[in-house]
Amino acid sequence: MIFDIISAVPDLLKSPFEHSILRRAIDRNLIEINIISLRDFGIGPHNQIDDYQYGGGAGLVIMPVPLHNCIQDLKSKNKYDEIIFMTPDGESFKQSTANRLSLLNRVLIILGHYKGIDERIREKHVTLELSIGDYVLSGGELPAAVLVDAVSRLIPGVLNDATSALTDSHQDNLLAPPVYTRPSDFEGMKVPDILLSGDDKKIEDWRYDQSLKKTKKIRPDLLED
Ligand code: ADE
Repeated sequence: MIFDIISAVPDLLKSPFEHSILRRAIDRNLIEINIISLRDFGIGPHNQIDDYQYGGGAGLVIMPVPLHNCIQDLKSKNKYDEIIFMTPDGESFKQSTANRLSLLNRVLIILGHYKGIDERIREKHVTLELSIGDYVLSGGELPAAVLVDAVSRLIPGVLNDATSALTDSHQDNLLAPPVYTRPSDFEGMKVPDILLSGDDKKIEDWRYDQSLKKTKKIRPDLLED
C-alpha cells in the first residue's frame, strides 16, 4: 500500500517511519510512504503557503492555490482510492476504518497546520475527513503517523505473527486482555495459573472473559456499538 502525505512541516514526519515495524515494512516493500513538502508548491519569492483568514480571527490558514497545485500534480501521476484530510472536526478514526483502509492500494493524506486548510480544498478534493480524538493538535503530522501505523500493521506480512493484529484491542469492539511474560513471580505478583496450564481452550475462554470485564469497566460504550 502506498501513502502519499502532503505536509507543511515534513521534518515532523521523518522519525515515526524510521523505526521498528514500519521501517521493516518499508524495507520489505510492503508499504511505501512518500512525504511531499507543501512548501515546494508555495507562491512567490518566499514560497508562501498560508495567509490570514477572511472575516478575521487568530491563526493562519493554508492557502488553496499551493495545496490545489500540489494535489493536482499528484493526481496527474497517481490514482487515489481515498484523499484523506486529518482534522479534529472529521469523523472518528476507528479500528473499523483502519481495517477498511488497509485493503486500498494508494491513499493521499493531506495535513493542515496552523488554523487549518481553506474549506474549498475540502469540498473539491477530499473524500474522507478523519479525527484521531476529541482534542486539538498543532498539526496533522502526528495524526497521520497514527493513521499510517494503525493501517500498515493490518497489511499481510507487516507483523511477524499473522494473528497478532486480530487479537489487538478494538478488533471485535473489545479491549485486549492483560498479557504477561517471565518471570512468573514478579515481586510476589503471580501470573494467573490458567496461563501456565497449557490448556488452550481454557486460556482462550479466560482471555475473552478478561476482555469483556475490562471493556465493561473501562469502555462500556464499545459494547453498545
Ligand atoms: N489535527 C489537529 N488535531 C487533530 C486531531 N485530533 N485529529 C486529526 N487531525 C488533527
